Amino acid sequence: MKVTVVGAGAVGASCAEYIAIKNFASEVVILDIKEGYAEGKAMDLMQCASLNGFDTKIVGSTNDYSKTANSDICVITSGIPRKPGMTREELIGINAGIVKTVSSSLVEHSPNTILIVVSNPMDTMTYLVHKTTDLPKHKIIGMGGALDSARFKYRLAEALGAPISDIDGMVIGGHSDKGMVPLTSHATRNSINVSEFMSEERLNQVKEDTKVGGATLTKLLGTSAWYAPGAAVSALVQAIACDQKKMFPCSTLLDGEYGLSDLCIGVPVILGKNGIEKIVDVPLSDAEKAHMAESAEGVKKTNDLLEF
Ligand code: 2OP
Repeated sequence: MKVTVVGAGAVGASCAEYIAIKNFASEVVILDIKEGYAEGKAMDLMQCASLNGFDTKIVGSTNDYSKTANSDICVITSGIPRKPGMTREELIGINAGIVKTVSSSLVEHSPNTILIVVSNPMDTMTYLVHKTTDLPKHKIIGMGGALDSARFKYRLAEALGAPISDIDGMVIGGHSDKGMVPLTSHATRNSINVSEFMSEERLNQVKEDTKVGGATLTKLLGTSAWYAPGAAVSALVQAIACDQKKMFPCSTLLDGEYGLSDLCIGVPVILGKNGIEKIVDVPLSDAEKAHMAESAEGVKKTNDLLEF
């Protein structure tokens, strides 16, 4: 199982590290445009192999896509991260050109790859990949909801004073500060709906804290987060690589599902060896349906800024 991660920055390197530690891939290639940077990160990570107990071979490459040839899965993290106060959508001007070039180079060397997009604004970048490559739609996956759901579960556990292992919850919709739709109607503490344990006001606060989870960290860190994004991507890679048939919220091209078409937005999907193997239709409350429709409008507005 060969995985390529483009972008040796904090998110890409964290993703490569988590993939290696989980030891399901034979090779991870990290590629970056900065001279020697990917090679350095790969060597540093390989020097963890005996300590962290993995046999995965991690290789770095300075912009040589031949090293990525025949990758089963490719992850695009390249592009600029946001600064405090910025929205993800403001990154489109620079990141669209990067994602278009990177995705084309990856597909040229790995025509059968499954491609996971992380670069922001992620839903629009995922849509861009559909428009600029000939990969089938089940092989183009946007990572946002898996990260947002992890933040949702963190906030629920915090509010309940419960261990995270007792909590389950999912966030769908756009990966944006205003567009996320935390599914409070389905969130549970050990199979019991969380509304049994907290007031509506407190649950609404959990929803709002979840939606700005990325911005909260960017304000604290001075740049975008990387540990949880890297971990979320590695979970998607593992589900595909190990054919786990796990359900994650992922950004995917819709063609009528959830009443939406011609956009990529986060919905529950089953991930397996073929990538997105099924889009799962889950019942939504009226409020969640309304939020999803608003979220889709926001994503389409950002998509309209693309120049193909
Ligand atoms: C985040 O929310 C980078 O969009 C990513 O942290």
